[in-house]
Amino acid sequence: MFAARRAVAQAARAQTASSSRLFSTSTCRKSDAIFNHRDTPYNNPKIPFEFDAESAKRAQEIISRYPPQYKKAAVIPLLDIGQRQNKGWTSISVMNYVAKLLEMPPMRVYEVATFYTMFNREPIGDNFVQVCTTTPCMLRGSTEILDTICSHLGGIKPGETTKDGKFTVIEVECQGACSNAPMVVIGDDFYEDLTPDSTKKILDAFSKGQKPKPGPQSGRFTSENSAGLTALASKPYGPGEHCSPEFS
Ligand code: FES
Repeated sequence: MFAARRAVAQAARAQTASSSRLFSTSTCRKSDAIFNHRDTPYNNPKIPFEFDAESAKRAQEIISRYPPQYKKAAVIPLLDIGQRQNKGWTSISVMNYVAKLLEMPPMRVYEVATFYTMFNREPIGDNFVQVCTTTPCMLRGSTEILDTICSHLGGIKPGETTKDGKFTVIEVECQGACSNAPMVVIGDDFYEDLTPDSTKKILDAFSKGQKPKPGPQSGRFTSENSAGLTALASKPYGPGEHCSPEFS
């Protein structure tokens, strides 16, 4: 046993001496969020959390959709319910509570909550602004939209919350509304076809506690061609109109 350990240590020393690297390294990946947990005064397992009556009712309804032995399949919707009740973020107490409710090892719940970026693991402002900066939005001006939002909210940067706690801004990947680019998600709603002016108006409305109308801000109804109808513009022919006489 000791001989084996000595042999490994000697091999490692030899590798170092011959200037080979013992460990491989890669470049540091910087991101908005860290994926490990550190206890803080506002986020530690001693802070109590449990579903209120409304959340508990919703949770039970969701759990009842699954056979009892598979109730852990409800982990994502239950984390979502917990996040909504907990002012938009998923604390360690929320995760532990969901683990207990679904009889899962807490680590399995942490794995889910840290994998999906929709779970915020730090507190957020009253209005959570997610700016899509993936290529289709970027090609239609999302950089300008992001800059407008950050400067209009007092010079905060992506990942930060305004001092009054009203807004948190982050950059996100494609939200599936590319044909209405550029767009942002605020709360649960999409605001699309944005310009710097329409973006400022939306933020101003939210900061007054109003909720502006979601959807395209350009006058489009959904994602129809903004140049109007360019195909299938003529009256569609009826059945039999183009048949030969012998078939009519
Ligand atoms: S790239 Fe922004 S919604 Fe798809």
